[in-house]
Amino acid sequence: MNISLVAAMSVDGKIAERVDQSSLDWTSVEDTQFFVEKTKEAGVVVMGRKTFATIGKGLKDRRVIVMTKDPSVGAMIEGVEYTSESPADLIKRLTLEGVENLVLGGGASVYGQFLDAGLVNEVFLTIEPFLFGNGVSLGEKFARVNLELVETRKLNARSILLHYRVQRSFMKPVAERTIDTQYHQLLKKILEEGVDVKPIQGEGSRMILGAQMHFDLANGFPMITERDLSGKFMVGALGEHFAFLHGARTQDELKAFGCAWWKKWVTKERCDIFGLPEGDLGPGSYGPAWAAFPTAEGEPFNQIEHVVKQIKERPNLRTHIISPWIPQYTIQHSGIPPRKVVVAPCHGYLHILVFPETKQLSVHHFQRSGDIPVGVVFNIIQYAAFTMMIAQATGYTPKELVYTISDAHIYESQFDHVKQLLEREPRTFPTMYMDSTVTDLLDFRPEHFTVADYTPHEAMVIPTPV
Ligand SMILES: NC(=O)c1ccc[n+]([C@@H]2O[C@H](COP(=O)([O-])OP(=O)(O)OC[C@H]3O[C@@H](n4cnc5c(N)ncnc54)[C@H](OP(=O)(O)O)[C@@H]3O)[C@@H](O)[C@H]2O)c1
Repeated sequence: MNISLVAAMSVDGKIAERVDQSSLDWTSVEDTQFFVEKTKEAGVVVMGRKTFATIGKGLKDRRVIVMTKDPSVGAMIEGVEYTSESPADLIKRLTLEGVENLVLGGGASVYGQFLDAGLVNEVFLTIEPFLFGNGVSLGEKFARVNLELVETRKLNARSILLHYRVQRSFMKPVAERTIDTQYHQLLKKILEEGVDVKPIQGEGSRMILGAQMHFDLANGFPMITERDLSGKFMVGALGEHFAFLHGARTQDELKAFGCAWWKKWVTKERCDIFGLPEGDLGPGSYGPAWAAFPTAEGEPFNQIEHVVKQIKERPNLRTHIISPWIPQYTIQHSGIPPRKVVVAPCHGYLHILVFPETKQLSVHHFQRSGDIPVGVVFNIIQYAAFTMMIAQATGYTPKELVYTISDAHIYESQFDHVKQLLEREPRTFPTMYMDSTVTDLLDFRPEHFTVADYTPHEAMVIPTPV
């Protein structure tokens, strides 16, 4: 059933100045017309006894259901019924009766209870040009609800109508989630059991070979809680990912997508080594590999676009694979020209698995080399978001992100930070809401993502060698 909350509101968020006030006292003719149109379209209107008292009569051609604790005292009026059922029981009964659309006509107690029970699908708000200063708020006591804007309409010279859709998440309610300790255990294992090595970066690190984490996305969005990654960190991670999906190869292109952290890696000195202009990650970097893979025929191949099409057409295939690795641009030894990439891709090897029977989609992501305290936590955000995005773009529900790291390491300069992280108890993963109106993988931007229920420990800056 589609349940629409329809209300008129002052600019300071009040639906009335007094409880006994009729909305007709202050709302515009156009708002009343909209209410009549919307309720006639739905056929059924639910309202509280106090709101009904401000109307005092039935509504022509509509079934009015008035909520009251004592239905026996309600006046007999044609088209008006009284109920003492809870919102959930009322909706259950009306669904069995075949009701498909319903308008919630207020007031505050009714709006609040339906919102709190997660029973509202759409919100229509007319904003009228008043500041009441005090009065009745939209709803009492309900937990935060995320909305996405569908439409704005100017009703007349003074009033606007806002149409929102309530965002839903496929993730379990927070209270039902278990605390995921996989990341915590991985840090601990590397620190306690890892092998000390001296990589090319010059700084020693401790590593294990072959680590794997399974993130059931219904259990929350895998954004670690040992340190705060929200705000500009999360936006930067998503921005980098979207830039690469679009084939970005330069620092400027990455910046345009909201990612500013590549500067240190593409200085003039570093780019000179590979014969690349300053700011250029090179033709062997993530963006060109994903979106313009070089082919023997000459025409570049867009893996992202083709894999999305393949999933839509032939979901059962086990070949939904995307690779960031262009061998001829990445391998280096004497006797061949310098490689064509400043940083050889570490992550972004993807195998997408579709389960048409359950309408679910999972992603197995492989990372050849992972800086576990710094880079990997952002990469997990990116590939969890990727799983959600590609699922939505192809019509599936996201299921699992399996995250495999080949060389999983912690640098020596990070040991103390990691010891501090290990003293912090992991907490429940947050909820990630994604705008349901975006259905093309390439149209996603950071503003389409909203994190809720995130209660991390405080932020910690951890060094990473360049
Ligand atoms: N601007 C707008 O769009 C708009 C729209 C609607 C209303 N309003 C305003 O909102 C105000 C009224 O809001 P309100 O919150 O005070 O009152 P209300 O929601 O209209 O009515 C509350 C009454 O509904 C009954 N009720 C609510 N939940 C119930 C439940 N679960 N089970 C049984 N009965 C239930 C109870 O009636 P009993 O006491 O009989 O048990 C309760 O006292 C008015 O000022 C009105 O003008 C504004």
